[in-house]
Amino acid sequence: MLLGYMAVFGRLWAGCPHGKITFCTFAGLVLALCLGVSGSQTLPDVHWPHCRFMDEKVHVNKEGHIETEYIQRKAVVQFGKDGDSALHPAITFLVTGSEVDMRHYLEGSENMIQCEIRRYSTGGIVMRWPVAGAQEYDVWFTCTLRHTQGLFVITTFLRHTPATPAQGKLDFLQWMKISDGDLLTTSAAMVILTRTPSVEVGFSKEPELHCQFAVDHKLPKATVEWKLQRHGKHIKLFSYSSLTGKTEGSGVTVKAIEGGNASLKLQPVRKRSEGTYVCSVKIPPLNGSHNIPFSISEQPRVSLNVPNTLAMAAGQDKKVICDAESYYPLDVNIEWYLERHRENPMPSFLNVRHSSHRLNQDGTYSISAFLYLEPGLENSGYQYTCSVSHKSLLNPINKSFFLVVTETDSTMWYFAVFGFIISMLLIMHYIPRIFAGRKSAKRYMSSCLGV
Ligand SMILES: *[C@@H]1O[C@H](CO)[C@@H](O)[C@H](O)[C@H]1NC(C)=O
Ligand SMILES: *[C@@H]1O[C@H](CO)[C@@H](O)[C@H](O)[C@H]1NC(C)=O
Ligand SMILES: *[C@@H]1O[C@H](CO)[C@@H](O)[C@H](O)[C@H]1NC(C)=O
Repeated sequence: MLLGYMAVFGRLWAGCPHGKITFCTFAGLVLALCLGVSGSQTLPDVHWPHCRFMDEKVHVNKEGHIETEYIQRKAVVQFGKDGDSALHPAITFLVTGSEVDMRHYLEGSENMIQCEIRRYSTGGIVMRWPVAGAQEYDVWFTCTLRHTQGLFVITTFLRHTPATPAQGKLDFLQWMKISDGDLLTTSAAMVILTRTPSVEVGFSKEPELHCQFAVDHKLPKATVEWKLQRHGKHIKLFSYSSLTGKTEGSGVTVKAIEGGNASLKLQPVRKRSEGTYVCSVKIPPLNGSHNIPFSISEQPRVSLNVPNTLAMAAGQDKKVICDAESYYPLDVNIEWYLERHRENPMPSFLNVRHSSHRLNQDGTYSISAFLYLEPGLENSGYQYTCSVSHKSLLNPINKSFFLVVTETDSTMWYFAVFGFIISMLLIMHYIPRIFAGRKSAKRYMSSCLGV
């Protein structure tokens, strides 16, 4: 019953011309209410009218090599039941009811989702998928939903039973013909997703790389594997086979795998943790996988060795140090700006030198930029900014100080010394005269008095 509702809902919504959104929203609300009242679990009504179908033309060239040509075609994913007709004039992949539903895993808004359908080759493995109605000659497609801001990547394997079985062993050499406007009824057989499509963390963190899967039948014969690709090498991290029950490596709990959780817990991050992690779930003839690029990123800490306001006397000099510490990976860019009264900052030709990168014990790097100041009075009132940009930062980190330049202390000193000398000279010049004056006065007095 739920699927019936879904189909009607889907049809109503898709039939909505732009001008009649209000009515359609209303109808949608009524339907949503009905679904709510009936107590069924509702799925978000989504479809991706602009799905890209990456079709392939494969042929064997004169030298006997296989050449593949990719052709982008328009397609639609439509959820419904067997027998539904197409809602859009494009190649329609009708996804019919199954235990596996990609809509369960969606997050965020629909217009952030990119959808791509590809043909999937079983690589020569001919076997029947173990569900009712499946055939040995079934053909496979993958539908990948990618969130444009990196919330998830979901890959669903779609099984389609063609009207006539293809001849030959290698499916890709005789791909089933698909014409524009065709409707292919498919059933979702398996879904594999990750909510960590790419990861950037700092040293010594212990992140979990998400990988989850679901299959349309019970007790699937699955092999779950994690590998790390680094510098062209493959390092096997973990594998588990439900057939043999054998586990190799660590990081995934076997009990969790039974529930479709194949997430990998990493050891504390070190330099050699970087690379591309590949989670794969193989259930013959299918092998689904996700590549998770993993990189280490540490933001620099930036500091200056001077206070917010730096007072200097004209003629003095000073080495101002701007330290950028504990960043990863190499490299940082350090620039100095000079600015006055909120004018546009200009990179200026200042006397700047840099130390070399220092490797810290934790694997991060540090560098210092030295600004040699020898200001004159005309430099007073300027703001100096050290601006550090790094891969891990959206905007550069800025640290500034104001420069206040005062009259040279030495001038004062000269004045003081000069003043002292002048006064000394004056004193030395006048004192003897005063004494002399007194003496001559005494002499005159005594002669007058006849002493
Ligand atoms: C998946 O299993 C791991 C243990 O392997 C656990 O830490 C994690 O919380 C589980 N994730 C979910 C979504 O259940
Ligand atoms: C499945 O495919 C992935 C990616 O191509 C590969 O790394 C992995 O080894 C395959 N898994 C198995 C079990 O063959
Ligand atoms: C630092 O300064 C630069 C250049 O003026 C500017 O582009 C950037 O946004 C500033 N950063 C912050 C965090 O304000």
